[in-house]
Amino acid sequence: MIHENLKSFPNDFLWGAASAAYQVEGAWNVDGKEKSIWDTFVRVPGKTFKGTNGDVAVDHYHRYKEDVQLMAEMGMKTYRFSVAWTRIFPHGKGEVNQEGIDFYNHLIDELRKHYIEPILTIYHWDLPQALQDAYGGWESKQIVEDFQNYSISLFKAFGDRVKYWVSLNEQNIFTRLGYQTAMHPPGEKDDKLYYQVNHHASLANAAAIKAFRKYVPDGKIGPSFAYSPAYAKTSKPEDVLAADNAEEFTSHWWMDVYAWGEYPQVAWNYLTRNGIAPRIEKEDLELLKAGKPDFMGINYYQTTTYEKNPLNGVTLDGHFNTTGEKGTMEDTGLPGVYKTVTNDNLERTNWDWNIDPQGLRIGIRRVTNRYQLPILISENGLGEYDKVEDDDSIQDDYRIEYIRTHLKAIQEAITDGAEMIGYCVWSFTDLLSWLNGYQKRYGLVYVNQHEEGEHDLRRIRKKSFYWYKDVIASNGENL
Ligand code: NOJ
Repeated sequence: MIHENLKSFPNDFLWGAASAAYQVEGAWNVDGKEKSIWDTFVRVPGKTFKGTNGDVAVDHYHRYKEDVQLMAEMGMKTYRFSVAWTRIFPHGKGEVNQEGIDFYNHLIDELRKHYIEPILTIYHWDLPQALQDAYGGWESKQIVEDFQNYSISLFKAFGDRVKYWVSLNEQNIFTRLGYQTAMHPPGEKDDKLYYQVNHHASLANAAAIKAFRKYVPDGKIGPSFAYSPAYAKTSKPEDVLAADNAEEFTSHWWMDVYAWGEYPQVAWNYLTRNGIAPRIEKEDLELLKAGKPDFMGINYYQTTTYEKNPLNGVTLDGHFNTTGEKGTMEDTGLPGVYKTVTNDNLERTNWDWNIDPQGLRIGIRRVTNRYQLPILISENGLGEYDKVEDDDSIQDDYRIEYIRTHLKAIQEAITDGAEMIGYCVWSFTDLLSWLNGYQKRYGLVYVNQHEEGEHDLRRIRKKSFYWYKDVIASNGENL
């Protein structure tokens, strides 16, 4: 048997954890902040588990010092957080709200005091409601200018102390859930609009990166993409082709645009034939090419397995059939293109996500080979139902195992030759799980917050907290 002689993690590897404003901050209407589309959406009855919302979340806005203290105790090298656009521009544009700037200044200074490198995410889904009302938010090209101006305000305010920036978090997810499945705001189901919205978001991403070069010339910036590498169910050529198609439609569609400023050919041609390719103007392509990232941020949770879509030949009349009896986009994929199936070779979590550390190594290889960019694992972690024992401990060995095996996969990828910047566990503290309240927990630190009943927001270190502390201290030797 051949043993792999694994390379060590680089000495400057950024060991960290992540969060997002809406999921942790709370203080939803404090210090001048106005509503985001999430503040509106969660108030629609039936949208979230037991009507949970982020009004208080885990109150990081008021407890950030305590949280940073815990990060320092753990020896964390980096903390990835997002800025709430509506704290900086309560109505999306116009006058900067100084109180919003102050909050993030305090957070950034507190982090740096403890030698924790801040990674700032510009956009983690909480679009100002005012922009949604004014022109449909991402549906209008106006968003490109407004997003660029918002980004420039952040570069000016924080660029002297923040060197790592994430532009858009999971464009592929917020557009899919917002415009294809209607599970997230603004709750639309419209494929043509979905591709148009994506084009605007890609332009906004490029516009922000282009401006970044001027304002933070010594910084690094990239998007965070939710990458789920595609597997074929069998070695039948039609399944392999389905997986190839899936990689094209679910990954290259975004990452090619980020890295090269170009849409992938196969998908582009397919969407054009079906009349739903986005409208593109000539100068758009120049902008896309002018906004290339320094790294690819990858949020990795699981792989997805595909087979030939059986609807091929039945409904393939040149048009998508995403509603009605023949199935929806979610369960059939693109007709004639692919269908998602369960991978029986993989174990699944209690939230029915597959567990596939090797998929991370495979994904890192694919991204490295295709784009030749350094990679930041901007999210990876396990959502589970945690239990507080009588002695106040949380024995989350399952989370330790999940993170350990994924870190091993990263070490293998480094050995393969990938350039890895760092790794952020999702998440540092427990936080609001968008639609699922607080039953699905990801944190290394437990927060006593619940949908109902007693909750004093107390922080408790989980077993994984101590384990990760040791991993960081040994720079990954003690995996
Ligand atoms: C990705 C998102 O960025 C984050 O907000 C979310 O909570 C996690 N994945 C878990 O689903």
